[in-house]
Amino acid sequence: MIQSTHDKPVPLYAALADSLQQLIEQGTLRAGHRVPSVRRMSLQRDVSIATVIQAYTQLEDRGFLEARPQSGYYVRPRLPLETPEPRMARPMAKPSYVGVNDLTVEVMTLSSDPSYLPFGAACPHPSLFPTKKLARLLGAVGRDDPTLLGRYAMNWAYEPLAREIARRYLQAGAPLSHEELVITVGCAEAITLSLRAVAKPGDTIALESPAYFGFLETIQSLNLKALEIPTEPRTGLCLDALRDALHHNEVKAVMVMPAFQNPLGCSMPDEKKESLYRLLADYDVPAIEDDIYGDLHFSERRPKPLKAWDTDGRVLLCSSFGKSLAPSLRVGWCAPGRYLERVRRLKFTNTLGTPVVLQKTVSDFLRNGGYDHHLRSIRRAYQNQVHLFTTAILRHFPAGTRLSRPQGGFILWVELPAGVDTLQLHQNARARKINTAPGALFSVKERYRNCLRMNCGIPWSPEVEHGVRTLGELARAQLPA
Ligand SMILES: Cc1ncc(COP(=O)(O)O)c(C=O)c1O
Repeated sequence: MIQSTHDKPVPLYAALADSLQQLIEQGTLRAGHRVPSVRRMSLQRDVSIATVIQAYTQLEDRGFLEARPQSGYYVRPRLPLETPEPRMARPMAKPSYVGVNDLTVEVMTLSSDPSYLPFGAACPHPSLFPTKKLARLLGAVGRDDPTLLGRYAMNWAYEPLAREIARRYLQAGAPLSHEELVITVGCAEAITLSLRAVAKPGDTIALESPAYFGFLETIQSLNLKALEIPTEPRTGLCLDALRDALHHNEVKAVMVMPAFQNPLGCSMPDEKKESLYRLLADYDVPAIEDDIYGDLHFSERRPKPLKAWDTDGRVLLCSSFGKSLAPSLRVGWCAPGRYLERVRRLKFTNTLGTPVVLQKTVSDFLRNGGYDHHLRSIRRAYQNQVHLFTTAILRHFPAGTRLSRPQGGFILWVELPAGVDTLQLHQNARARKINTAPGALFSVKERYRNCLRMNCGIPWSPEVEHGVRTLGELARAQLPA
């Protein structure tokens, strides 16, 4: 025991935990960093191994450290508990054609212009992907079988890749056969094919609000109507509102992102997914599930896709490696359940096949065993970056700003005070070489005018911090002094 300043004896392990906690709070030990091993800490502080283990366990309980199997203890990113979260919006409960804001194209185009800070599109920085290894594999695939370049891909999937994807879903609690998969050109094609398989022009599609603007664009391009459903910032689709919508409208499909929804980042608890599935079955409606962020969870367990509850083939599961491995290889997939034949035919007319060279490159990467290791490292990077962005936004944005608390992925939804117009903010920020994604892009009729989606898939740097500060200043300038 050692003496505390209040003359109350403090156990040695608690004193060690306190001193490490202080180092974390001061930023000396930073989020995502590994703390010294138990043995090294015991030597450094001249205490027993048991004392260090007790101290680390206590810091785990306090939420400052996390143990990672076979790796050690890491500083856990922490968010201030009192941070207010965005409020749930109540969009009009009426289907309507989508008026997509032309700004979407600008946001996407500027995201690939290196002279802009890329806060707009949800694109991770290329340095986060194993591009060199992929480039080597891509070269080897072409060299080993050059005829691949001289043939059409006249099948639905390169079998070894489909088997690997199916194996991973089995691990995630959603058993699938590789034969149920259609490999697509990105998740974007999987979504388009799914929508075309279940609906025709004029039909209504229900979806979360705020919604990923890519969904809105696709719905518009297929001449469908969108019905926006209120979405809880933590747990996703509001099922009461969805039930009401299904009761009063002829809805052809529900588009849903149960894992780390874009843009709110919310994750649907398993019980809620089960209830959602029952609701879909009651009204005999299919779901188009976008699971693109599913592998990017911050906690130990990957969330189960809604597809795990699908006993009658009504879930069309769509995803890709675009956010986790290689956006530009454009390898995605669809497990369309009972719509398999229709999706296959549509794939055939849409793009014939997905290039086998690209499918084989991804498949070789997955089969080499490097994917899980890579995933662990980007998950940690994303978690750390989300934490750093959160902290900076809370520091630099106007008082009253609300923020999502995603448990995976790399985007934040920011609700600014009501007087801020983020379309105006976008113009002002663009003049300072900062690209943003204003909230208006995430709804059918330009709701969310005081909201902003932030891409945190960029390594932290003084320029990034400066960009966040500038955005905060520009937002503040819109408010009365
Ligand atoms: C939710 C969501 N779905 C689909 C896509 C498109 O994915 P891909 O690049 O694989 O076509 C994106 C890209 O930003 C996305 O955020």
